[in-house]
Amino acid sequence: MQSPGSLQIGLIGLGTVGSQVADRLLNHRDSLRRRSGMDLQLARVLVRSRYTSRAFAVPPDLMTTDPEAILGDPSIQVVVELAGGEEPARSYLEKALRAHKHVVTANKLVMAKHGPALLELAGEMNVDLYFEAAVGGGIPLISTFKVDLLANEIERIAAVINGTTNFVLGRMAAEGLDLAAAVAEAQALGYAEADPSDDIGGFDAAYKLAIMASIGFGARVHPDSVYTEGIGGVEAVDFRYARELGYEIKLLAYAARAGSRIEARVHPVLVPHGHPLAAVEGNHNAVYIEGDLVGQVLLQGQGAGGRPTASSVVGDLLDLASSIRRQVQTRVAFTFDPDIEVVPMSEVIARAYFRSTVADRPGVLAAIFQVFGEEGVSISSAIQKEAFDADGSAEFVVTTHPAPDAALQKTRERIAGLDSVRRVSAFLRVL
Ligand SMILES: NC(=O)c1ccc[n+]([C@@H]2O[C@H](COP(=O)([O-])OP(=O)(O)OC[C@H]3O[C@@H](n4cnc5c(N)ncnc54)[C@H](OP(=O)(O)O)[C@@H]3O)[C@@H](O)[C@H]2O)c1
Repeated sequence: MQSPGSLQIGLIGLGTVGSQVADRLLNHRDSLRRRSGMDLQLARVLVRSRYTSRAFAVPPDLMTTDPEAILGDPSIQVVVELAGGEEPARSYLEKALRAHKHVVTANKLVMAKHGPALLELAGEMNVDLYFEAAVGGGIPLISTFKVDLLANEIERIAAVINGTTNFVLGRMAAEGLDLAAAVAEAQALGYAEADPSDDIGGFDAAYKLAIMASIGFGARVHPDSVYTEGIGGVEAVDFRYARELGYEIKLLAYAARAGSRIEARVHPVLVPHGHPLAAVEGNHNAVYIEGDLVGQVLLQGQGAGGRPTASSVVGDLLDLASSIRRQVQTRVAFTFDPDIEVVPMSEVIARAYFRSTVADRPGVLAAIFQVFGEEGVSISSAIQKEAFDADGSAEFVVTTHPAPDAALQKTRERIAGLDSVRRVSAFLRVL
């Protein structure tokens, strides 16, 4: 039964995050009421199967497998979507908004691909769409952009935003593990999924960057326009050379204002020791934001997991409940300028780290230096390691000064094509 001081909630999904949200709503009802001034009532829970065994038992009369029991029920005021995936989640959210229901979602895939359209629809329907949990799990990121940093022109966002890859890179750095062994360890600990390709390939980070860049820069940044390179090309030996040069290796999600355009890219990067992102350990996330008024802000914490993510979801519900109770519209509509373009990666000015395996004979380095010179890429540091006994080859590591990425890529291609170069084994950017 709906009472005037209650918020009727329809929950879609009762998995890792949904279970924690349901637990909080059902077992902390009094304290949630005190904080929001409203009774947060879990009215219905949609799942695929009633027979799945679950970490948290919800009263059976609340459970349904029929989406209409939530989307078509006029007494449900807010839909909390914790099912994941693009469809049918996107359609459910659209339907809920069109039925004048508020929405809270943790779905990064839907928000990255369709966020601007859904937020515009929410504005038209005069309801709220909250998505704090879609980026950075429990870290208060979206509300920080929406409220605390709203006075700023955001200049730059640099983030370690995928806990799985950060854990994997950390194990490769600390123990000299190869990528496969480090991924297996992450899977055994529950930090990586059975199919880790979204994380390892950088796509998860690209979805999150697309959301942050869209709201940070007021642009429509689709994940397809985020240059995305995963950590598949990083080898254990690179961590040794990086350390020698004064760096750690991280998967970086980076967006920055570039005149009337913005840069948005995800790739592995050498981060100098002393930079706050170099010190982000294990499966933690950290987001470094620069605004013209505030200067530099660093937000750090648990970027995933049922409980931290439920913290963001229930926080969104409390904020919604308080604004409904006070009958004020506290929401600030995000705006998205469709004309702001993303700079193509070839035009981005970057620094690079090259690791080449070369024949250990006179003239090799001169030939490599000549290519750098001809492509207009100037060298910042170079290390040559002793020859490997077995095949008479040596490793040669170079870091460059800033140059257009197209010139760095051309240099890489031409060096790989030299007779005396066996292969360019690693090509990473430097922050
Ligand atoms: N897990 C995290 O650490 C984390 C962190 C940040 C954001 N998120 C986001 O949170 C969302 C949920 O993630 P999760 O890890 O909790 O997922 P999960 O454990 O796989 O749970 C998904 C739940 O949704 C239900 N479901 C899936 N498709 C459905 C459909 N078509 N109709 C009805 N119910 C459906 C499933 O029902 P059954 O139980 O019947 O199969 C299950 O209860 C995702 O968008 C994810 O990206 C997760």
